[in-house]
Amino acid sequence: MQRRKLFVANWKMNKTVSESIRCATELKNLLSGKQEHEVVICPPFTSLSALELVLQEVSVFTGAQNMHALDSGAFTGEVSPRMLVDVGCDYVILGHSERRQMYAENEESLSKKIKAALDHGLIPIYCVGESDEQNQAGQSFDVIEQQLQNALRGLSHAEGFRLVVAYEPIWAIGTGRSASPDWADKIHAFIREKLAVIFTKDVANSLRILYGGSVNQDNIGLLMDQENIDGALVGGASLDAKHFTSIVKYGDK
Ligand code: PGA
Repeated sequence: MQRRKLFVANWKMNKTVSESIRCATELKNLLSGKQEHEVVICPPFTSLSALELVLQEVSVFTGAQNMHALDSGAFTGEVSPRMLVDVGCDYVILGHSERRQMYAENEESLSKKIKAALDHGLIPIYCVGESDEQNQAGQSFDVIEQQLQNALRGLSHAEGFRLVVAYEPIWAIGTGRSASPDWADKIHAFIREKLAVIFTKDVANSLRILYGGSVNQDNIGLLMDQENIDGALVGGASLDAKHFTSIVKYGDK
């Protein structure tokens, strides 16, 4: 099954509005022309509307890094799916391990967020992945299975088709220690198998499963050669437009 590769820049808490505009403009120029792969930039909330304007005429999409499940209300500091749609946002990262660890995100609230995103026409990029400790203890597969089941159970097949899943082992994020292509492919194949049980084989075969964790221009080629890796969620290396472009254009040498 041919799945269009997807490259997502997760800028995390980096870049002011003017810095975001500068970087997205550079990226837009570097990526000009027909693009084989799909590209999404997830800046901080404050830069979303500015980037919508910069990226208007190119097929680079924007995404948020989190959202609340409800449309409005007394939730100080939160941003709703309606607000994201209003600024032209297309994607939303949900369940990133930094949010699970530092802001106590759990699968109960994540399943509501995923449903809310889908109800509003946003594409959720649902992140799963084990810690170093869990990996050492041989628990990676169990942890990931739970993360998938708890958050995705109850979605319809039609909703399943619109999901993106990202495998981000916590030990590989920001450490320079990327997962080996073999390991990542093994986990991705397992994720696809579980998605076939939760949804259907058709859904599982059409869904894109991204790899994230210390992706850079040197390791991207081998990762993308794997059968079950359909793109990347890139943190540190996405902050520089040239570096991110060479990741997106990994095949052009
Ligand atoms: P990294 O981050 O590329 O800096 O390891 C990836 C992520 O957290 O999404």
